[in-house]
Amino acid sequence: MSIFREIKPFNTCVIGASQGIGLGFVKYLLTSHQNNQLSVNHIYATYRQDDSARELLTLAATNPEQITCLRMDITDENQIAMGMQCIRNQVQKLHFAINCVGILHEENLQPEKSLRHLNFDNLTRYFQVNSIGGVLLAKHLLPLFKHQDRSVFATISAKVGSIGDNFLGGWYGYRASKAALNMLMRNVAIEYARSCPKSIVVTLHPGTTDTRLSQPFQTNVPPEKLFPVERTVSQLMAVIQGLKPENSGQFFSWDGSNLPW
Ligand SMILES: NC(=O)c1ccc[n+]([C@@H]2O[C@H](COP(=O)([O-])OP(=O)(O)OC[C@H]3O[C@@H](n4cnc5c(N)ncnc54)[C@H](OP(=O)(O)O)[C@@H]3O)[C@@H](O)[C@H]2O)c1
Repeated sequence: MSIFREIKPFNTCVIGASQGIGLGFVKYLLTSHQNNQLSVNHIYATYRQDDSARELLTLAATNPEQITCLRMDITDENQIAMGMQCIRNQVQKLHFAINCVGILHEENLQPEKSLRHLNFDNLTRYFQVNSIGGVLLAKHLLPLFKHQDRSVFATISAKVGSIGDNFLGGWYGYRASKAALNMLMRNVAIEYARSCPKSIVVTLHPGTTDTRLSQPFQTNVPPEKLFPVERTVSQLMAVIQGLKPENSGQFFSWDGSNLPW
């Protein structure tokens, strides 16, 4: 039975919706009334730059009643605050928000294989995007979760951010920034429980998914372990819809199993 069963219709926010898993969530939510019981009223979808968001912007232009796009770089707190204020100008409540923002590589940034590859700027960049942006989103989303309906605030993390599961090493900045994200979101779950007690805050590992982020690292991934975006999104939605209040603050894999911190 879906966690969202009592909420009709409800408002959603997908952060980092230009590409990959975030764009997949927008498409899923847009058509969700056709294939299951979800009754999504509106989707607020954030993107950082026009160039990589063409498909999202076209989708919004053809579905203006259902999708509103907001420009937001999550390393700029003013942009986060302004984006959330835009949502608050239109609706009082969100029932589902999912942060799909993350970087593993960028121009001039590659995951480090060894200590000799570390440098201050690259490590800082990983933390700015993958950890600090996530908790600042939680800060500015809070007013939209202060209501008495059941709600879910999910953040896409990564299994490689699990300290207990790290037996391979490497990828210092990505691993550590996801571990920090997990701690920050665990804290958020505790604070949200006080001010919006019907919210459930979780971090999720999507499984290796065929996106721009994983593309350079797919060579040794067996085909059955490389999920198309649509599969990842429906697996994560199954986990989300099966959440119970006592799951707030937990870290889940795509198959619904708990991951070690
Ligand atoms: N794909 C996988 O195998 C895999 C595995 C484990 C975890 N994850 C996690 O899943 C999440 C989604 O990744 P993905 O695979 O869908 O990658 P993706 O296709 O590269 O999408 C990443 C998204 O993050 C956005 N973004 C990056 N930096 C941003 C910033 N400073 N401000 C706002 N948005 C920013 C990107 O926007 P732009 O288009 O503007 O760059 C894009 O929308 C990430 O957190 C990633 O770490 C992915």
